[in-house]
Amino acid sequence: MRTLDSLGEVDGKRVLVRVDFNVPLQDGEVRDDARMRRAIPTLQELLDRGAKLLLVSHFGRPKDQEPEYSLAPVAERTSELLGVEVVLAPDLDDVPDADVVMLENIRFQPGETSNDPELAERLADLADYYVNDAFGTSHREHASTAGVVEFVEHSAVGLLFQSEVDMIRQLMSDPERPFLTIMGGAKVTEKIGVIDRFLDLADKILIGGAMTTPFLRALGHSTGDSLCEDEGIEHARKALERDDYPNGKLILPEDLVLAQEFSDDTEVRILNGVDVPDGWMQLDIGSRARTRYVAEVRDAETIFWNGPIGAYEHKSFAAGSLAIAQALAAHPGTTVVGGGDSGAAMRAFGLADSITHLSTGGGASLKLIEGSPLPGLEALSD
Ligand code: 3PG
Ligand code: MG
Repeated sequence: MRTLDSLGEVDGKRVLVRVDFNVPLQDGEVRDDARMRRAIPTLQELLDRGAKLLLVSHFGRPKDQEPEYSLAPVAERTSELLGVEVVLAPDLDDVPDADVVMLENIRFQPGETSNDPELAERLADLADYYVNDAFGTSHREHASTAGVVEFVEHSAVGLLFQSEVDMIRQLMSDPERPFLTIMGGAKVTEKIGVIDRFLDLADKILIGGAMTTPFLRALGHSTGDSLCEDEGIEHARKALERDDYPNGKLILPEDLVLAQEFSDDTEVRILNGVDVPDGWMQLDIGSRARTRYVAEVRDAETIFWNGPIGAYEHKSFAAGSLAIAQALAAHPGTTVVGGGDSGAAMRAFGLADSITHLSTGGGASLKLIEGSPLPGLEALSD
């Protein structure tokens, strides 16, 4: 991994910095700038070293050049965070010579997501150096995250990217034990590679959230009207078998919170067991599971959490995620949250600053954990 230091003298040079400023907007303003703030140290260091910046990011998944996908609000917020003017350049043919320029949404360029070499070369021609600090997009093989590297003479990862990779590599190679992982969210299929790695490397794996359903189905329980990713049942069955459940590392909830709809004013039932009756859905772990899961967190030295434990956006089903989040925040050991929805939950509970590391990349951190190549990282590895 080539680091910022390897670039040497950048005074007076133009550095193209790929950032992941794909952040939530509301009423034309940035609603959550957490991801942006994490890239500021890289931008600040380059500015301090005398470089001029050309910032490149995608925003959303535009099909055409729809104005609601403009980076204008993001450029404005960047300017506030850096304390310097940020000029938005509408396209590649028209890049002004200001100290900090932000290129309009790179996904407005047809060749971005297809990693078109022509676009990659045009991007490279706009700068002397290339820095990738967009860890959250490093699992995409796009022109601005991977292709461009071939056409620039000097390239490196930024400080955020480097810290994300270092953290996960450390977690996977030499965690302080016991090493506990908590897997929630909806899709077993997307996370089975990660669960497999953890069956090898972790000491215990707690299962929660919608992902519990395919596991319960694989064990022959009825799950009522709970959302169930059918493809996931077979993955869950194999994981349980490999683990020699219940004598292995996987731990499932022993009680559940049920409701008939996703809403705060719906009737809630506590199920002392895991056979969900027809007409009902499991939307959170129950209080016995909560107590057990929190105790497991306390007993561990290293904890990795990915994916909400219930439908935490509704207060009736937030107790599981909140208890985990609070236990992590109070824990003195190494606590890592893998971005995505669990990261959003940590922020919603106001606890994001109380853990060791909150990843800015959900998908990217999972890929790194499962051992799949990250095109953005491969491109910058010697
Ligand atoms: C994200 O927010 O997940 C990253 O910015 C990547 O965006 P994408 O999933 O649209 O490629
Ligand atoms: Mg995503």
